[in-house]
Amino acid sequence: MTKIGILTAGGDCPGINATIRGVCKTALGYYGMEVIGIRSGFQGLLTMDVTPVTDKDLSGLLNLGGTMLGTSREKPFKKGGIISDVDKPSLIMSNVKRLGLDCLVCIGGNGTQQTAARLAGMGLNIVSIPKTIDNDIWGTDFSFGFDSAVSIATDAIDRLHSTASSHKRVMVIEVMGHKAGWIALYSGMAGGGDVILIPEIPYNIHRIGESILERLKRGKPYSIVVVAEGIQTDGRKHAAPYIAEEIEYETGIETRETVLGYIQRGGAPTPFDRNLSTRMGGHAAELIARGEFGRMVILRGCDIASLPLSEIAGKLKLVTEDHDLIVQGRRMGICFG
Ligand code: F6P
Repeated sequence: MTKIGILTAGGDCPGINATIRGVCKTALGYYGMEVIGIRSGFQGLLTMDVTPVTDKDLSGLLNLGGTMLGTSREKPFKKGGIISDVDKPSLIMSNVKRLGLDCLVCIGGNGTQQTAARLAGMGLNIVSIPKTIDNDIWGTDFSFGFDSAVSIATDAIDRLHSTASSHKRVMVIEVMGHKAGWIALYSGMAGGGDVILIPEIPYNIHRIGESILERLKRGKPYSIVVVAEGIQTDGRKHAAPYIAEEIEYETGIETRETVLGYIQRGGAPTPFDRNLSTRMGGHAAELIARGEFGRMVILRGCDIASLPLSEIAGKLKLVTEDHDLIVQGRRMGICFG
């Protein structure tokens, strides 16, 4: 009988449990495999914190936030972490052997994909699934968690509109995204933001001020500014307070800021993410059944496919200025900096 291990690593996000459900139900019920859950990401593989997964464990997971297996930011190829003074990659290889695993399923973001690629290079049978609200994993059109985060951020922006217009204020909202501005772009456009700033596009604060004053001249005395956390801030910790201060200085309009934070990562996944998770999880089990290892499941267009981990690792999927939302947004007068 094929025996697989499954772990979730890196930051949590909506849809992980739905993905675990997709992998495990298909592996147990359809392919007749045995499944071992590994707790707290790679940490659990180092400390042998494992538990068998049975069908009974897989109820109520579709809409459950977080991860039933727990997660950690343990990086086996970096020194330190839970166990020091030990060759962590070799320990992982021997623990996988001790557990009798034929394949390891890794659900995680960019760091996890890199670790998975390196372990695959050492001869471990691995299938991985892309997970991040940031949507910055190269090779897949979307990762699950992103649509949920965009939905949460869009709801927040909608709510800021009414208070912005009542008080005739500029409202700055900071959303997640250190290197990639996908959440800011998608939620900013869906929420009708007037200024959207992302790490990929350098901005000019005078131009932003002018666009807000231009709106004022057109009888719109309030504006919504959506910023990704990773934009340039002159060394200041948070983007939102920095930009709010600069805008107030430039325009003389009262400006307030909101940092949305971890709310974007919590709670139930959207129906889109639930179905993406289900599909990706099921396809991961299918890859294992076919003996196709060293691959990450991807969404391309409407189809689920897979790519070699060696092609993905170390790359980032960033927003480019020819993205249709930016092209159309600019034509509609939205300022991207
Ligand atoms: O999951 C990605 C992400 O949400 C980033 O956008 C964010 O900056 C980061 O995780 C923070 O996570 P943590 O505090 O768990 O390291």
